[in-house]
Amino acid sequence: MRKFLNKLLIKFGLLITKAPTLLADKALSTSESIPAKLTEKVSVGQETGQPDNELFRIFSADTDVHKWHHYFNIYERHFSRYRDQPIRMLEIGVFRGGSLRMWKEYFHPDSTIVGIDVDRSCAAHEIADRDVYVRIGSQADPNFLAAVNGEFGPFDIILDDGSHKTHHQIISFGALFRESLKNGGCYMVEDMHTNYWIKHVDSPETFIDVSKQMIDMIHEPYFDRKETHFRHKHPDAVTEMDLTYLSANLDSISFHDSIVVFDKKKRSLPKSELR
Ligand SMILES: C[S@@+](CC[C@H](N)C(=O)[O-])C[C@H]1O[C@@H](n2cnc3c(N)ncnc32)[C@H](O)[C@@H]1O
Repeated sequence: MRKFLNKLLIKFGLLITKAPTLLADKALSTSESIPAKLTEKVSVGQETGQPDNELFRIFSADTDVHKWHHYFNIYERHFSRYRDQPIRMLEIGVFRGGSLRMWKEYFHPDSTIVGIDVDRSCAAHEIADRDVYVRIGSQADPNFLAAVNGEFGPFDIILDDGSHKTHHQIISFGALFRESLKNGGCYMVEDMHTNYWIKHVDSPETFIDVSKQMIDMIHEPYFDRKETHFRHKHPDAVTEMDLTYLSANLDSISFHDSIVVFDKKKRSLPKSELR
């Protein structure tokens, strides 16, 4: 029925791109390889406590920040290692400026925090004398993103909390990952649940879909090869190979509830050894 409706909408120009159906429509497809005891519904209750970490305390002390509570442990897990040194952070989506202030408080005081937003009124949230900057433009505009990178980058952390439109998330990642994120940097996209809400899905593939493909890209070195190609001092061992940029620079992808994190690190060829 939805397919028929979508066809009608496309015909009359009301649906611009082919949007995938909601996950709800797909009825959470689970592989038959997953045993029934793991797919059986079990009850989940409300969280009673609050995140016990410094970032949550900073969040609680400010106003005009909009974050989900369960994000705070995820932020700590991925961001705490950047706290000792001054860093450069780019946040897509300024809104009322609260998160920019929160990051400024959390990271080293000499850090530079940059927010971008399409809404001109967000410029008021710049605090230039504290190295908190706001630039106005769209996350879907690679030229604007390149200009922001030219002015402030490359960044240690990039956080996409912008429009949550899937094609924007895809364009921003594509425009920023190579030139604007440092080696050793972290690219986080939050509110990924929106990839399952039809009003945010405006591309044939969601950002989650694309992220899943990147799991395969991490494993590109192994395609069409065998273990001896990687074995220490083995005559078949390869000493060099050409990989896609992502495969050569993506250390890990972490999937959390509504957050995907990409850790960037230039890789070397994997090596195996039996001692
Ligand atoms: C969820 S709010 C950001 C919240 C803020 N980071 C916080 O934690 O309080 C999303 C912001 O993205 C902005 N936005 C929407 N479309 C955008 C686009 N194409 N490029 C950049 N920002 C956009 C909106 O104007 C809005 O201020």
